[in-house]
Amino acid sequence: MDLRSFLALTETSGDLLTIGRPVDPRLEMARVIAALEGRPLKFSSVTGSAHQVVAGLCSGRGLFGLALGCRPDELLTQMAKALADPVTPPLVEGAVCQEVVETQVDLLALPFLTHWPGDAGPYATAAVAFINDPDSGPSAAFHRLLRLDGRRMVARLVEGRGTHTALGKTAEDLPVAICIGLPPHILLAAAMSPSPEVDEMAIAQALAPTPIVRCRTVPLHVPAVAEFVLEGRVTHRSVAEGPFVDLTETYDVVRQQPVIEIDCITRRQDAIYQALLPGGLEHKLLMGLPREPTIHAAVSQVCDCRNVHITPGGAS
Ligand SMILES: Cc1cc2nc3c(=O)[nH]c(=O)nc-3n(C[C@H](O)[C@H](O)[C@H](O)COP(=O)(O)O)c2cc1C
Repeated sequence: MDLRSFLALTETSGDLLTIGRPVDPRLEMARVIAALEGRPLKFSSVTGSAHQVVAGLCSGRGLFGLALGCRPDELLTQMAKALADPVTPPLVEGAVCQEVVETQVDLLALPFLTHWPGDAGPYATAAVAFINDPDSGPSAAFHRLLRLDGRRMVARLVEGRGTHTALGKTAEDLPVAICIGLPPHILLAAAMSPSPEVDEMAIAQALAPTPIVRCRTVPLHVPAVAEFVLEGRVTHRSVAEGPFVDLTETYDVVRQQPVIEIDCITRRQDAIYQALLPGGLEHKLLMGLPREPTIHAAVSQVCDCRNVHITPGGAS
């Protein structure tokens, strides 16, 4: 499944709301997403950008169920099965994510959203970074990305997690491929933290078919169905990242974080940009859902545990 086939499913189910009037990614779009929380949205006219924007695709358990073909109360079993039995994804030649290859990189053409007036600037928030750890292999994780200019962003790399650890193992730049515009099962897999030697895309493949393709300029593989792939390098140069309203709906502090330089953008024709409201339901579900199988396994050791439901009230 790709983002477009999932959008079609939400259209058929009556969940998708399409907004036709022009909406500005600077401050206005985040307010609309917040006001319509819980609904998948498509902004078909975006001020200052040729790309359509979708948001809220994962903003309810029912939407994950729609993507995985199960009831919301069966999500835990689906995730537990995929974590227990990951499946190597098939490698394909040629993919829709490489329909257009741009070596004249211009990140300003992408409609990064400025979410709140006190934020440091425009951020990508539904961006999944693919890297290769020299010891444990491929890894995928979300990283919020503050756009600095047409070629550079600064990433928040939480200390001790996969990307931060891999960067610490090399004195060179770390090759990275950042995908924007992915279906829910890949986002869910990227939000999981299996042991480092397990590739999150093998978990995605166990959830739903997830063909991967080799990137054009970096030795990495990404989901063939991504709308955008930003190929480049995580550098050892740091600049200020933040302030930024995060998961708890409060301002995160400013930190010195690594700069990412982008050398090539590959994308679909008419690529659709994906946004995610920080601190919104989608963010909370993606943070909470992957912990439910872990809690279920632990609680099952001491009593009969029927299911686990992490609620957004405690910021998941
Ligand atoms: C919407 C969303 C945004 C996230 N943003 C970040 C981020 O900016 N930086 C970060 O290090 N982790 C972020 N995370 C958490 C990582 O994606 C998540 O912990 C991931 O599983 C880490 O995998 P790893 O432990 O294999 O590196 C975010 C997660 C979600 C769901």
